[in-house]
Amino acid sequence: MNSRLKDRRIIIFGSATGIGAATVKRLTAEGARVCAADINLAGAEAAAQAAGNGAFAVHVDISDEQSVNEAVKTAVERLGGLDGAHINAADLRVIMEDSDALALDLAVFDRTIAVNLRGHLLCTRAVVPHLLKNKESAIVYTSSGSAHGAEPTRPSYAMSKAGVNALMRHVSSRWGKEGLTANVLAPGFTVTGEMKAQMEANGPEAEKWAQYFMSRTPHTRLGESEDHAAVVALLLSADGRWINGSIVDVNGGSLM
Ligand code: NAI
Repeated sequence: MNSRLKDRRIIIFGSATGIGAATVKRLTAEGARVCAADINLAGAEAAAQAAGNGAFAVHVDISDEQSVNEAVKTAVERLGGLDGAHINAADLRVIMEDSDALALDLAVFDRTIAVNLRGHLLCTRAVVPHLLKNKESAIVYTSSGSAHGAEPTRPSYAMSKAGVNALMRHVSSRWGKEGLTANVLAPGFTVTGEMKAQMEANGPEAEKWAQYFMSRTPHTRLGESEDHAAVVALLLSADGRWINGSIVDVNGGSLM
């Protein structure tokens, strides 16, 4: 593993499981000093401990402004500043929402937007002033192929992720001249902890869905968390400094 992130100070929101936990591991392996923030503190602590290199965990609920500000304050105090942020947390209880714009439950929609979109705005507001203290800094948001693929049955999730893409473009165009890059990681179907739980809960329906995605991918497997962590590492490193305002599809080609 190279050390292109040596001593880069990075906070990851949504780091206890899945893509975020794999990213804690990947970034520390490349030399970064990582603060793993999550609503699931025990999970984030386990991810930080497994990663080593001084990674540590803080509790955060990204839908709560005060909680976000406190988490960022702790991260900045312990790391001595911030060079990068991966804003990855999402409420995935809606990932298998089976609805449409007429039938959707507005309470579900509101909760999805509160975490998946408003939460990303809160994290952005908290980290940008710290990132701008450096000549070069970076944010990676995790959106989804759902933001730009056809979604007949998951309107809340798709709308929240499309909003994240717009937020990223705002940030990259507003602060690019001050050395801040912002990009979106857009994963395709990836079997992570919550996805596994949702698949188990949905039984054969979810299995059909996985098969559908696999049939659309010119490879014989689904995505893995490590596939995404590798791309986040690139985007947060100097190797990625000329990538700005991009939506990087990481899906094995399933959305070609
Ligand atoms: P995951 O459930 O393993 O990770 C999500 C993390 O966010 C968890 O650690 C969870 O505790 C945390 N979280 C949830 N609500 C939070 C809150 N209010 N405040 C702070 N942390 C909170 O799921 P996964 O699959 O790793 O998802 C990571 C990102 O990738 C999400 O943004 C998801 O929408 C996106 N994604 C995942 C895909 C997949 O197929 N797994 C496909 C496309 C996008």
